[in-house]
Amino acid sequence: MLSRALFRFMSSATKAPFEITDMAALMFTLPKNTPGSLNQVLQTILDNNLNLVHIESRPASLIDADKGFTFIVDIETPNNNSLENVCKKIKKVCGDVTVLGSLDVPLFPRRFSDIDGMQQLVRPLHHDHPGSMDPNYWARRQEFGIIAKNCTLSQELPRIQYTSDETQTWQTVYHALSPLYKKIACSEFLLNFKEMENKGIIKENEVPQIAEVNRYLLGKTGFQLKPISAMEKDRDFLNCLAFRVFPTTLHMRHHSHPYFSIDPDIAHEVIGHVPMLADPEFAEFVQEIGLASLGAAEEEIQKLMNLYFYSIEIGLIMNSEGDRKVYGARILSSVDEINHALSIHPELRHFDPFQACNVKYHRKDLQGLYWFCSDFREAKVLMQRYASTLQKPFNATYDRVQKSIKVSHKVKSW
Ligand SMILES: [Fe+2]
Repeated sequence: MLSRALFRFMSSATKAPFEITDMAALMFTLPKNTPGSLNQVLQTILDNNLNLVHIESRPASLIDADKGFTFIVDIETPNNNSLENVCKKIKKVCGDVTVLGSLDVPLFPRRFSDIDGMQQLVRPLHHDHPGSMDPNYWARRQEFGIIAKNCTLSQELPRIQYTSDETQTWQTVYHALSPLYKKIACSEFLLNFKEMENKGIIKENEVPQIAEVNRYLLGKTGFQLKPISAMEKDRDFLNCLAFRVFPTTLHMRHHSHPYFSIDPDIAHEVIGHVPMLADPEFAEFVQEIGLASLGAAEEEIQKLMNLYFYSIEIGLIMNSEGDRKVYGARILSSVDEINHALSIHPELRHFDPFQACNVKYHRKDLQGLYWFCSDFREAKVLMQRYASTLQKPFNATYDRVQKSIKVSHKVKSW
């Protein structure tokens, strides 16, 4: 039940837009079993003639209920003296209080156009890459890097001329993988993969054209492909997902290793990722990871990359009968990884973001551990729950009409 003081404050309250400069947001945590403490805080605000316009709360921890609730209050602040005085008094009640507008957070894109400005690079091939001793392959990778750098999100993607060798590699990959899907892939993948084949977007004898793939995906879920060679930072990659933008390579894997690619290639992107990104529920799950990454601390970015990898790249789905199906793009685009993931060898665990975030993945090898979910709604809800515990001084949402990020509270670095 709302306390009388809280009701009095909120009865005339409306949510103020964060752009108002004489606003401040205070965040504080009240431990469990401290009756009356919220009343004391609110009374302090009232006594200093400050107008409270919004209040929200969330559990301070989803693991430890004894940590109580974290509150964020928006107040009008006609002068800094009043704010300082209030903060001092609130500290006596709850130990600490944070003025959110004074916090620095890592810079993150706010507008769709910000994404075009992200740095990308052509990363030298590692010595164990199958193409590292092939100068023609390296030269081709650099060509694709230049094409990617010249692409913008507002322009039609270019038509790519793939060589006969690249087309041959595509055919080898396609012929090896496509017969396997009916048995091993999840239903969402099968539906969209078939649709892409029926529409002629995925063809047997031709490397898919990124422009056609992009048009298809945009029409399905609003996800858009951004050609890259490699993103400079993991943070940038994850931030793109918040805007329903998926960074995508253009090159073909080396012909000597068609059944497993240690880095993403066009076959991986189009066969592995796109049919899944074309599913609405899955698209929301992917975007949740992106939203969680906006303004997140560096150690949290690494945890989110672990979650991204264990779900979007190598995730499995298991129904109540124990049938194991694949939805992870890296498995779906690799014969070797399909055979390994569905064998008796790897360890399987039910997807738990609070645990999976702490397990570092190894990008170059076949995996020893796979996480499975029951369905994508479950995965999305778990991801939202995880994201709600991140120590960020604001909530971020994506405005699909404006193609921009809306934030609940002002922070200093914008
Ligand atoms: Fe991938």
